[in-house]
Amino acid sequence: MKSVAVVGASGAVGEILVELLVERKFPVGSIKFLASPRSVGKPIVFAGETHAIEPLTAEAFEGVDIVLSSTPGGISKVFSPIAARAGAVVVDNSSAFRMDPDVPLVVPEVNPQAVANHRGIIANPNCSTIQMVVALKPIHDVARITRVVVSTYQSVSGAGQKGMHELWTQSQAQINGVDAPAPAKFAHPIAFNCIPQIDDFLPDGYTKEEMKMVHETRKIMGDDSIDVCPTCVRVPVLHSHSESILIETERPITPEEAREIWSKAPGLTVLDDPGQLVYPLPASTRGRDDVFVGRIRQDLRRPNALLFWCVGDNLRKGAALNAIQIAEELLKLDPVGI
Ligand SMILES: NC(=O)c1ccc[n+]([C@@H]2O[C@H](COP(=O)([O-])OP(=O)(O)OC[C@H]3O[C@@H](n4cnc5c(N)ncnc54)[C@H](OP(=O)(O)O)[C@@H]3O)[C@@H](O)[C@H]2O)c1
Repeated sequence: MKSVAVVGASGAVGEILVELLVERKFPVGSIKFLASPRSVGKPIVFAGETHAIEPLTAEAFEGVDIVLSSTPGGISKVFSPIAARAGAVVVDNSSAFRMDPDVPLVVPEVNPQAVANHRGIIANPNCSTIQMVVALKPIHDVARITRVVVSTYQSVSGAGQKGMHELWTQSQAQINGVDAPAPAKFAHPIAFNCIPQIDDFLPDGYTKEEMKMVHETRKIMGDDSIDVCPTCVRVPVLHSHSESILIETERPITPEEAREIWSKAPGLTVLDDPGQLVYPLPASTRGRDDVFVGRIRQDLRRPNALLFWCVGDNLRKGAALNAIQIAEELLKLDPVGI
């Protein structure tokens, strides 16, 4: 059994972490929930017992084996190394350590072996990247992907509790014909809108979110030669990110072959029957563990290019579930300690 700390327990990802630890029967011996002073004392029900959120302090990690952390990057930068020095292994959802060469960046369906190289911190990738690489990996293994062109349709829960609140309040105001609160989390009103900007712009015109997809994909897939051309868009959807993806492969691959490969791949479900109007939808993938692919079709002119639509619950596979799967990989390395 393990002593576990959930850091950022009051957040959008933290809430799902708490649910999943119970659902997946993680061997929890003792558990504590940490967050900012704003949340201290708030109740968290875990496995039928009510716990109070405690403040995130350096001392809080004493005796803890596994830390599941989902705070803003700046907070993780300070506290994850403290937790690691105290002897815990941290699985961190923030972007703070993802591109650190000493920190494994892991999607268990793609590179579970990287977990063994940790030095106390393991990074959980960006939500859009996780669902994409789950779909890319099995195709890459048989046909080598050379280029990926991806446009994302990212839900507001990707921006945490405040993102969801902003969509709700703006939508209600517009429907009721009253003045909507000014945007705070997003650069523009998100209700009944799409915003082609996630995170800050860089001098070359890409956003930081887009560059996360470029760099993290290469690191997780272990292949720096893959070209990734992303456009990241925030859409007025509460849960689940969708992605329109075009892949170019070294050898041609047909939609039938891709369907066959994906139908056997771990963590993936093919929903692809356009005649019956069957394809993945964000509304029906909320709360589901798998990544879903559909609308699989050949490029009209290029036999070595394939298009598809990919949907996943950003709070589950895009964050909390992937983090717990990483922790489960850690347990496999240390079965005696369970
Ligand atoms: N949402 C997603 O789909 C997603 C996917 C992948 C990765 N991530 C990453 O996961 C992290 C958390 O995201 P989220 O969506 O859960 O955000 P969120 O809903 O805003 O939650 C943030 C959490 O961090 C805590 N926190 C903030 N400032 C703190 C401080 N000074 N000290 C201690 N705790 C503090 C918050 O506590 P209080 O409630 O007390 O403020 C809350 O528990 C972020 O780094 C995000 O980039 C999110």
